[in-house]
Amino acid sequence: MSSEYKFDTSIELFKRAADVIPGGIYGSKAPGFVIPGSYPYYFKRGKGCRLWDVDDNEYIDFLCGYGSQILGYGYDSVDEVAARQMRAGDLLNGPQPLMVELAEKLTDQVEGMDWSVFAKNGTDTTTLAVSIARVHTGKKKVIMAKGAYHGAANWCSTNDFPELTDKQDVLSFTYNDLEELRNLYKAYKGEIAAIILTPYHHPAFEKQVMPNPGFYEVVRKLSDVEGSLFILDDIRCNFRLSLKGSHVFFKTQPDLITMGKSIANGQPISVLMGCKEFMKTAGSFFITGTFWMSGVPFAASLETLKIMEEVDIIGHMNRMGGILKEGLISLGKEYGFSIEITGAPAIPFMTFEGDPDLFRNQVFCSEMTKMGIYLHPHHNWFISFAHKENDINKTLETAREAFAITAASL
Ligand SMILES: Cc1ncc(COP(=O)(O)O)c(C=O)c1O
Repeated sequence: MSSEYKFDTSIELFKRAADVIPGGIYGSKAPGFVIPGSYPYYFKRGKGCRLWDVDDNEYIDFLCGYGSQILGYGYDSVDEVAARQMRAGDLLNGPQPLMVELAEKLTDQVEGMDWSVFAKNGTDTTTLAVSIARVHTGKKKVIMAKGAYHGAANWCSTNDFPELTDKQDVLSFTYNDLEELRNLYKAYKGEIAAIILTPYHHPAFEKQVMPNPGFYEVVRKLSDVEGSLFILDDIRCNFRLSLKGSHVFFKTQPDLITMGKSIANGQPISVLMGCKEFMKTAGSFFITGTFWMSGVPFAASLETLKIMEEVDIIGHMNRMGGILKEGLISLGKEYGFSIEITGAPAIPFMTFEGDPDLFRNQVFCSEMTKMGIYLHPHHNWFISFAHKENDINKTLETAREAFAITAASL
């Protein structure tokens, strides 16, 4: 059996952090909070699909910087372009030509979209999209799916502070339940500014759910008939389903699209794109941020988009995700588990049948992590271009041990 990793330096750092950073680490960045002592908290290096923590443990990583590292950590040509741009100048008084080039490139590439507004995080763009929809329609209410994540702003975050009223105009429905959705439009007739959806549903702590046949036709039709906007939050799936945008994969046409995470292979940049009809409204907003026009992420994004077109990145991620899926299902069977892998091959999530609180998942994923395969037990995983067949094979060899330990723990 492989030797188990120790996380002493991580734990020591976390103790120091707890004194000076509220919560020590925030967000969902630390599965170790759920399974103490099973996960590293701090990292120091990444290359390809490999990650090293502060205790020098090495991992094959299936979170990819929460999806952003689509080509893999430290992809040479992207890093070279970024370093060159850094030397030439990053944050200047105004934007660089790169910003125009990237807007042109994206409007060429992403089907049906005519303009781009760049920001830093996904939350900047989902929040802006909702604001634009409200101003454009003169309506206030926004519909989202229950359990969907659109960022950490007050209107959509998982926080529930009654003192903050941003959620009062946000309605929710059960994903794929068209009757519930129709009823919301009926109950709030004339008040719905927008519906915001991820291309398919990836709630934390649950299986991922694909849209039922006909789902998007109804969403599009309701938006048209009711005079509200359809916002596609493509931040997580971004370029793992289609290089033309995930709406092309699902054959639908949103009014506004948000992207982030993988558009610059980890450099901080996000984008809100839209159809011509909404450009004037978008242009009437005061939109900016001190760092939103820094040149490095634009340069990195142009290079990332170029590489993704040169190699068959989606075909590759689908193949790797397919091998991983089949391997995990068949290994699970050997140890008496019925395993389900939900979501697209490049964005998979594994669940055990009969494991509603994900306890088995926690045991399995933490055992994998302690043996060098970083898997999150509650959040979907990501495949990148850097995951090659030998990495998937190593992952499956380790999974055999982790399934055996999980079976023994029951
Ligand atoms: C679907 C979706 N929307 C929005 C966001 C928010 O993006 P960011 O964390 O960059 O603000 C995320 C982040 O995980 C996401 O997955």
